[in-house]
Amino acid sequence: MQTIITDNYDALSRHSADMVAGQVAANPASIICFASGETPTGMLKYLVNHALEHKVNFSECRFIGLDEWVGLGKDDEASCGNYLYTNFFTPLSIRPENIMIFNGLAEAEEECNRMNAWLQANGPVDIMIVGIGLNGHIGLNEPGSDFDSGAHVSNLTSNTITTAQKYFSRQTSLVWGITLGLKNFSEATMPILMASGQKKAAIIHQALQGPVNPGVPASILQRLTNAYVILDKAAASLLSDIK
Ligand code: F6R
Repeated sequence: MQTIITDNYDALSRHSADMVAGQVAANPASIICFASGETPTGMLKYLVNHALEHKVNFSECRFIGLDEWVGLGKDDEASCGNYLYTNFFTPLSIRPENIMIFNGLAEAEEECNRMNAWLQANGPVDIMIVGIGLNGHIGLNEPGSDFDSGAHVSNLTSNTITTAQKYFSRQTSLVWGITLGLKNFSEATMPILMASGQKKAAIIHQALQGPVNPGVPASILQRLTNAYVILDKAAASLLSDIK
């Protein structure tokens, strides 16, 4: 695991976008997985601009969704699918056949089987960019998730349900999520975790410098020699002895 500390959110976003663009230049047919949420929005803006300026070409890439709230489809404004369409697929006119995302309206177990079968045939993911929840989740791999899991249904914790209300315009009942698993993350050619802001400092410290255990899913990063953790100064503020 290599930790990169940037000055602020904009620098974090720019750096992450440059890493993605560099990988796509090296492998134009990359399979890419982007998280949704607040953290990757700046990076996606840079990537969309780079692509519109012909500095990077995503036309041969395929995109796999990281996760989804069960009960929400891509036309629901606060769904992960909707976020990816709004912030990336639509502005770049990504071809539908290159998009493989979870449908939160489908039967959840079947949806996981569909994603697992797709990854079995096409995987592993080349570039997998995740954020971190305040409870250490990656995707919707909640505390206690198996490090060896593929796509699966996840029972959401109250911490995630409460924090996720920031994505919704009104109070929304959430119970289950569907998500790629920690095995998918560890098998990615380039697994990347991004975190920004003081509110993430405690969990980043726990994940990167505490014991490796499923109680903190993001602690799996400590085992991944090929992984990158990209932070801004605020998120890194509780780390000691960064090499
Ligand atoms: C979203 C996802 C989540 C978020 C995490 C951080 O697709 O997978 O794990 O990455 O909850 O969310 P933000 O970036 O909103 O702080």
